[in-house]
This record gives sequence, structure tokens and C-alpha cells, in this order.
Amino acid sequence: MNSFLSWIGGKKLLREKICEQFPESYEKYVEVFGGAAWVLFYKERPGKTEIYNDYNSELVNLFKCVKYHAGEVKKELQYFLNSRELFKDFLEQYNMRGLTDIQRAVRFFMLIKTSYGAKLSTYGCVKRNVENMTIMLDEIQKRLNTVIIENEDFEKLIKTQDRENVFFFLDPPYFGTEKYYKSVDFKEEDHERLFNTLKNVKGKFLLSYNDCNYIRNLYKDYNIEEVQRFSNLTAALDEKKQFKEILIKNY
Ligand SMILES: C[S@@+](CC[C@H](N)C(=O)[O-])C[C@H]1O[C@@H](n2cnc3c(N)ncnc32)[C@H](O)[C@@H]1O
Repeated sequence: MNSFLSWIGGKKLLREKICEQFPESYEKYVEVFGGAAWVLFYKERPGKTEIYNDYNSELVNLFKCVKYHAGEVKKELQYFLNSRELFKDFLEQYNMRGLTDIQRAVRFFMLIKTSYGAKLSTYGCVKRNVENMTIMLDEIQKRLNTVIIENEDFEKLIKTQDRENVFFFLDPPYFGTEKYYKSVDFKEEDHERLFNTLKNVKGKFLLSYNDCNYIRNLYKDYNIEEVQRFSNLTAALDEKKQFKEILIKNY
């Protein structure tokens, strides 16, 4: 199934190739940098434990509210219009105190849905009405029913969850594009911290990155596979606009 959100660095176009690289068996699935969870929603659903994690607390609050209160979220959204004025209000209310979790969640949902490129900064003039945006929420609630939702920094999560039968899928901010993630800072030392954390894991990991020398060099002792995707439809006609990514595995 699809995710209910667009997200910077979302793996909508690569999810099939990513899932082809999953190990044959594992007991627990941990998606460390969850974002809009395009891979989690797409993958086969084994009857095993699944964990979604992201460090962005607004995003995690939205996932939790959809999981536990989808009806309330839909009810609250029915009073909203897709408009530039409301977009500006919600942007100003970002991080405002005094809102309930559901109020925060629907504001964040509207910001994602109506901002340009889901970047949460400028109004995107998207024509869809709010009712259409909420169509998937019941299905998403059902899918999240058995998913554990966490809001941890990757290092703590990996260290807590690591066992031999655990499979980590990791999709960190691309190297060099970290500044695009509102609310969450990811620096060069975080890429190194991730490398040092993964070096010691007992479980299996699959890591996706943009193809660049720094990351290739850091993970030179692992299996690295190149994958390509087009950034959009017009780019599909132009070879130069192909975007190279790499998948790194410890198995
Ligand atoms: C490339 S996006 C993941 C996209 C996701 N795979 C999808 O398909 O939508 C990277 C995510 O990492 C999260 N993130 C950034 N720093 C983090 C940290 N220290 N620990 C956990 N998650 C973090 C960001 O909030 C962002 O959602």
C-alpha cells in the first residue's frame, strides 16, 4: 500500500528495489528513519514485530494520532479548507504551546499536504480538497495497528533493539541535504555516528544513501549496490537527471 504523506527523501520511487534487497527471514523489522514510511507501508507484512521510528516529534505525533484516533483526526480536519491563509496560520502555530496532540497532528498534516514539495515552508497551491486528503486514513490506521511507534534518536533505538534476528532498514537524510529537514538537524558527525553504531550491530541492516564518495568510502567494507531513479516524469527523458542512490548491506 501507499503512504498517506509526501516527505522529503521519501522512498516512493525506490521502495520496490529496496524491498527486493530485504533478507529472507527476520523476527523483527525496525525502520529507523521512518519519515512517511513508504517502505514500511509497501513491504510484505509478516506476522512479526514492526517498529517505526523518527526523531521528528511532530511527525511521530501525527503517526500516533492516526494510529489511535483516526476518527478524531478526520473529524477535526473536516473544518479545514485548503487555503493560503490557513497554511500561514498553521506555519505560525508550529511549535505553539497549548494545542492538544490531535490539534497539532492535523495542523502538521495540513502543512505537509498543502506546502510546496512537502517542504513545510511555502504554500503549494495544491488543488485537492481536504476530504480527498483524508480518504486513506482508515486504511493507514488498520495498517499501523500492530506497528510500534517510537520517537528516538537512531543511536539509542538501534542499541536498544539490536539482536541477531532483527532487521534494520535505514534511510537517513542524504549526505549534503540534511538542512532540508525542518526541526531535525543531521550533521556530518551524525553520519559518522551512524556508521560507528552500525559497525557493532548483531542484526542485519540495509542502508540507503545518495551516491557520493564520502559515504562510499565510509562503508567501503560492506556490500554496496548502485540503484537509479528519476527525480520526476520529465527527468525520465533526460539521462543526466537520473539520481543515483546506493544500498549498503551487512549481509
Ligand atoms: C530520508 S527521510 C526518511 C524517508 C522515509 N524512508 C520515507 O520513505 O518517507 C529521513 C528521516 O530521518 C529523520 N531523522 C533525522 N535525524 C534523525 C535521528 N537522529 N534519528 C532518527 N531519525 C532522524 C528525519 O526526521 C526524516 O524523517
